[in-house]
Formats: sequence, structure tokens, C-alpha cells
Amino acid sequence: MDYYVVNGGKRLNGTIRISGAKNAAVGILPAAILFSGKCYIDNLPDIEDVRRVIEIMKEMGASIEYITSNSILIDTTNVKDMDIVSPSVRKMRASYYFAGAMLGKYSHACVMLPGGCEIGERPIDQHIYGFEALGAKVKIEGNILKVEAEKLTGANIRLKCPSVGATINIMLAAVCAEGQTIIRNAAREPHVVDVANFLNAMGARVKGAGTDTIRITVPLSKHSSEKVCRYSLIPDQIEAGTFMIAAAAAGGEVIIRNIIPTHLKVIADAIMNTGAYVEFLDDGNEFFAKITASMYPASTMITTEPYPGFPTDLQQPMMAYLTLAKGKSMIIENIYENRFNHVPQLEKMGAKIKINDRIALVEGTDKLKGADLEASDLRAGAALIIAALMADGESRISNIHYIDRGYEKIDEKLRSLGADIKRVEIKD
Ligand code: EPZ
Repeated sequence: MDYYVVNGGKRLNGTIRISGAKNAAVGILPAAILFSGKCYIDNLPDIEDVRRVIEIMKEMGASIEYITSNSILIDTTNVKDMDIVSPSVRKMRASYYFAGAMLGKYSHACVMLPGGCEIGERPIDQHIYGFEALGAKVKIEGNILKVEAEKLTGANIRLKCPSVGATINIMLAAVCAEGQTIIRNAAREPHVVDVANFLNAMGARVKGAGTDTIRITVPLSKHSSEKVCRYSLIPDQIEAGTFMIAAAAAGGEVIIRNIIPTHLKVIADAIMNTGAYVEFLDDGNEFFAKITASMYPASTMITTEPYPGFPTDLQQPMMAYLTLAKGKSMIIENIYENRFNHVPQLEKMGAKIKINDRIALVEGTDKLKGADLEASDLRAGAALIIAALMADGESRISNIHYIDRGYEKIDEKLRSLGADIKRVEIKD
């Protein structure tokens, strides 16, 4: 199993580009099977989760050609109606989007329940509630989700919580239902909007994505007159936020390109509350963020919320940064009940953190020391990289397969900014 070696204390200077959004990609790719024709998809992140979804789609009979490492041409003409139960399904969370897509396309689906990061129970009751509202019968046999519908009929669906996964999964089925569907208390994350825009590019009519009420007014089948659908994914909000935090944590001046400033405002505000400086600029071609920071931040308070609140996926990287913030910082994790698994690793480096249920109290210390660290999940891995960049001496970070799931070439991007990080490959 490969690991990273990081020698900390180096300031970061230079420019990097953000890749396409992972959590949009893993919804958009399964959605492509709803389109009878070819889909050209650009700004696709070259990450493990995308490669796994593509693997599953090829097993289903889709022909997928890489035009570049970040763009593909999908032809779903020969996609077969089959059970999605291959071992690769367990390795990620988003495999459940095949349930919504297959239900939409074939009126039934049989999908192995997802795996993904161990950050909480991660139920799918709202997905099931939405499928049933559309007229499907749902049962779980062992770790297999089975969904069956005579006919899908549009419905009024009010989610108990703004679940990203449920919002996207219900959209994938509802675009093939007869009649209008309204999803209330819908998730508003940028990747939800991106999936809705992709469905519209395929000929559906999905309105209101990005607000708490999404209306699907016309089913896909009546509209997909196009034979080639072209779509470019939005930049990854969480990758951009991770690099903004890394730049503030290591100190220096970093330019981050290929971003959407609106998606990053809450992160910029949090970073500026610690004394670092974030500007959003436009060179006439594209927006970019400029982060300038000295090393020692001021303490602050972070509360994770659904979008447009502070994203739960950046709670862990932000905590790593705040371990050196003067004074006491408080982090409240409102989304997941078990998203502090990175804390023992930070404590190995000298961090002072007290956990009480969903609240972390971080007492700033004057330095972190390099250590042997183990990533427990995707964003915990990113947090450990940030801590290692700030630490005195050498750190080794293992279990970096978690990081490979969601960050494209993160070590190369950091090295281009002056970080001393290298990947040590271990032949299994
Ligand atoms: C998506 O997960 C993301 N993953 C997660 O990112 C992200 O943390 C999360 O949204 C919140 O923003 C992907 O998009 C692949 P949810 P998802 O359904 O869809 C409760 C990363 O690091 N809930 O919005 O699983 C649930 O318990 C990953 O990229 C229900 O109660 O998130 C959780 O506390 C980690 N019933 C909360 O909602 C349901 O049916 C958020 O879940 C569904 C969810």
C-alpha cells in the first residue's frame, strides 16, 4: 500500500488548477445511461471513484472512450439491464445512483448497497421514500437494494433532511416518470445543480436545482431528440476548499484557478476569520482565488451545515489547520455522527483536541511534529496532509487509497506549489 512522505514547514507559492467535481461526476455518469445516444463529458476528475463508476458502466455494456484523461465519450446504446452487484460497488458510496438511473430506465433496479467513508451510519431511507413516492416497491435483501415499479408516476416529495444523495437519486428516477415531480427540502449543493443541468442537457426539464424545491416538469423520454449530449462538469468545491485551507495553513501566496467563487464564499469567510486573506479575482478568462497567509492563524468557530453552509467535507481539513491557531477553536459537526476519526492522528503530532459528541474543542499549540499517520477516510486523509505540511519534520501518511478516491494528483499539485511531498509506491 503506497504512502506519502511529507517534510513540513515549507511555505506554498504558485498556481494550481482545480479538477472537476467528484460528487457531480459520480451522479452524472450513471445518469448518462438514461440518454439514448452518445454523451461527451469534459472536466471529469481523474480519480478512483470516477474510474470505479466507469468500470461498472463498462460491465453494463456502455462503451466509454477516453478522449483525454479528463474527458470521455460514452455510448450507452448497448447498455444491458443487469444487477449492479460487482465487488467495485462496495468500494464507494455513490454506486447507489445506479438504483435511480436503472429504475428510471428499466422500471426496476438491483444494486448492492454502497460502501464509502466510515463517517456515520449513512442511511438511505430518504432515497427509498422517494422511490416509493414515485410508485416503486423497495426491499433490501441482505446488502442488495431491490426496486421495482409497474410505472413511475410524478409525485410531491418532501425530504426529512436535505440529503444530497436522495435528491440526486430521486431526480434520476423522476425524469422518467409520467407527470410532474416536486422535491421539497431538496439539497442545494453545487453538485446537485450540476446533475440537474446534465439531465436538462439530455433533454429533461428540471427546474429549481440549487433551491430547496426542485420541479421536474417533463419526462426525459419526450425530449431526448438530441443524439449527442455534451457536458462539462463544474469545478470541485471541496478540492478548491482543501487547497485554500492548505495555502492558509502552510503560509505563502497561492493562486487557485478553475473555481466558482459563489461555491467558496463560506470557506473564504472561515479562512479570513483566522487572519489569512482570500481574494476572488477575474482575469477576463476565468475566476481565480488568491490566498495569502502568514503561518499562525487566529482561532475561530466552525459549524458544518448543508450548502450554502460550511461543508462537512472540509471540517477535517479545517480542524488540521486550527491545531496551530492561537486560542481555542470550536468545531460543531452537524451532518455526521462520526466524522472525527482523524483526531487521534492529529494528537500523535501534538495537537490538543477535546471531543464531546459532535463538538470538537481545538486548543492551539505552538507546533506540530511529524509522525507516522494513517488516513481513516477521504477527507481525513486530506486533513493529515495539511497537518504534515504545517509540522516540523517528516510525516508518513498511509492508507492513501482513500485520498486517491477524491483528489486528482494532490501530491503533484502540492509539489508544484513548493511542498515537499512524495508518494512512495509499494508493490503489493
Ligand atoms: C454526499 O454524501 C457526499 N458524497 C458526501 O461527501 C458529503 O459529505 C454529503 O453528501 C453531505 O454533503 C457524495 O456526493 C458521493 P447525504 P451523501 O445524503 O449523499 C442523512 C466526500 O467526502 N441522511 O446528504 O451520502 C445522513 O445520515 C463525501 O466527498 C438520512 O438520514 O450525504 C447524513 O447525516 C463524504 N437519510 C446526512 O443526511 C438518507 O436517506 C447527509 O447525508 C440520506 C441521508
